[in-house]
Amino acid sequence: MQKEIIFSGVQPTGEIHLGNYLGAISQFVENQEKFHCIYSIVDLHAITVWQDPNIIRSQIYSVLSVFLASGLSSEKNIIFNQSKVSQHSELAWILGCTARIGWLNRMTQFKDKAGKNRENASVGLYTYPILMAADILLYKSTHVPVGEDQKQHLELARDIAHKFNTDYKTEYFVMPEPLFNKSTRVMSLRDGTKKMSKSDESNYSRILMTDSNDEIKLKIKKAKTDSMNMPDDEKNLSDRPEINNLINIYSASMAIEKKEVINHFASKEISFFKNELTDVLIDIIEPIARETIKLLDDKNYLETILIDGANKAQVISNKSISEVYEIIGLRR
Ligand code: AMP
Ligand code: TRP
Repeated sequence: MQKEIIFSGVQPTGEIHLGNYLGAISQFVENQEKFHCIYSIVDLHAITVWQDPNIIRSQIYSVLSVFLASGLSSEKNIIFNQSKVSQHSELAWILGCTARIGWLNRMTQFKDKAGKNRENASVGLYTYPILMAADILLYKSTHVPVGEDQKQHLELARDIAHKFNTDYKTEYFVMPEPLFNKSTRVMSLRDGTKKMSKSDESNYSRILMTDSNDEIKLKIKKAKTDSMNMPDDEKNLSDRPEINNLINIYSASMAIEKKEVINHFASKEISFFKNELTDVLIDIIEPIARETIKLLDDKNYLETILIDGANKAQVISNKSISEVYEIIGLRR
C-alpha cells in the first residue's frame, strides 16, 4: 500500500488568525498522528505581493512559532520554509510548461487579488498556483489539508499532474486529495460575506492567535451582528451572514455540529452567545498565544528547526526532481 503523505503551506504575509487556525493549522495538528506530514512556510508564495525584506524573516518565525505553539511537533513532521528548498522553484518551471494559460485564467483568487489593475499585478501572482502544484507534487503528497478557498488551486494541481502523466506516458505524479475542515471558511468579523484575511485593513475583522484575552473580548463584542435574537433554525440563517459566521466559529472551535449550537442558543440574546463564544475562543487562544510569544524569544532555536526541516525535505525533493528530469529526457 502507498504511504499517505500530507503537504500543506501557509504564507508568511502577516499574523496568523483564527481562520488559518480553524481552516488549516488545527487540521495539521490532528493529522500528525495519522500521516507523514510536511508543512511549509511558503515564503516564495508570499513575495508574489511585495514584502518588506526587513520583516519577512520575522513573519516566517511567527508562523513557525504558532505552528509549534498549536502542538505541531518538529520531530514528527517536516517543517521548513520553502525558499530553503530550491527544488520547489525548479519543479515549478517544469510544471509551468505543462500547465495551460487557459487554466490559469480561470483562477478566481488571482482575479480577486489582482483586482481591476490586472496589468500591473506581478507575473508571480499569476503563476502562483503552479508553484503550489510543485510544492504538493514534489513530495507525491496524497492529501492536502487546506481551507476551502484553496479548492480551485488544488484542482489545478490535479490537472497539471494528470497532463504531465499523460504527456510523458508515466504514472509518476500522484493525484492529491484535498482535506477540508468540514465547517470552515471563517469570515471577517466586520463583513460576513468576506473571508477573514491577513490583509484586511481592519484589525477588528480578525482574531489573531496572539491576541490577548481583552483583545479577543473586544473584537467579539464589536463583531458586526443584527438586532435579532439567536436563530432557532438553520434555515433562518441565510440572510444573516455575520451571525452565521459566529455560529460556524463556535461550532468549529468546539468541534460540535452547527445544529447543536443553534439548538443550544435558540432565541437567546446575541450578547449572551457572544460572551460564551469569547470564553470558548480564549480557552483555545490563550495557551497558544502565551507559548508563541515565548518561542519568538529564541530565534536561534527556531532557525535550527527550519534548517533541520529543510535538510529532511531536500532528501525527498532531490530524488523527485532528478526523477522528473529523467522522465522529460534531461539529466540533472
Ligand atoms: P494563507 O493565510 O492564505 O497562507 O492561508 C493558510 C491556510 O489557511 C490555507 O490552508 C487557507 O486555506 C487557510 N485559510 C486562510 N484564511 C482562511 C479563512 N478565513 N477561513 C478558513 N481557512 C482559511
Ligand atoms: N496557496 C496557499 C494559501 O494561500 C498556500 C500554499 C502554498 C499551499 N503552497 C501550498 C497550501 C501547497 C497547500 C499546499 O493559503
